[in-house]
Amino acid sequence: MKRRIAIYPGSFDPITNGHMDIIQRGLEIFDRVIIAVARNSEKNSLFSVQERVELIGRLVEDNPQLEVDTFDGLLVDYVVKREANVILRGLRAVSDFEYEFQLAQMNRSISQQVETLFMMTSTQNAYLSSSIVKEVASHNGDIGKFVPPEVVEELRKKFA
Ligand code: COA
Repeated sequence: MKRRIAIYPGSFDPITNGHMDIIQRGLEIFDRVIIAVARNSEKNSLFSVQERVELIGRLVEDNPQLEVDTFDGLLVDYVVKREANVILRGLRAVSDFEYEFQLAQMNRSISQQVETLFMMTSTQNAYLSSSIVKEVASHNGDIGKFVPPEVVEELRKKFA
């Protein structure tokens, strides 16, 4: 039987509980989820790609269904290269929809083999973003509810 492999792409700067929730739920549907950190994101990042990969690696190392990797260039090319067929994305609010719709349409027009699956973010993560977590952390706020403890630790070091 064909294995169902999903690529979960993003900048993950840093990974939050919102991302972790999508990953866990993705595992209910897919045999394997590859968390793919974008190398060529235009965003100014706090963590280097290497740091993000290491951090995510620590969070997922106990689960053989999960892998962390990086990609550059077009996402669809990476999806095909990894012999996956689905791009997994989380939708937080209506405001995400337009961008995600555009991205999915563009990806589909580049490669018809690649499907995008959207999951509604759990309510408690609907207002979360990596930027807002960094903002709160930079002002010494409590971010324990928003990110795994390993990420709290790394953010604390960054803003020490
Ligand atoms: N819960 C909470 N927050 C979430 C979330 C969830 N489930 N899912 C995403 N977010 C947040 C992220 O933390 C991030 O916050 P930030 O903007 O403060 O950093 C934000 O939503 C969106 O980030 P992300 O999901 O990482 O997407 P992105 O826009 O940074 O990256 C790529 C999108 C990398 C998938 C896309 O740019 C891409 O595919 N690039 C490669 C080139 C390409 O193929 N382009 C498409 C063809 S045009």
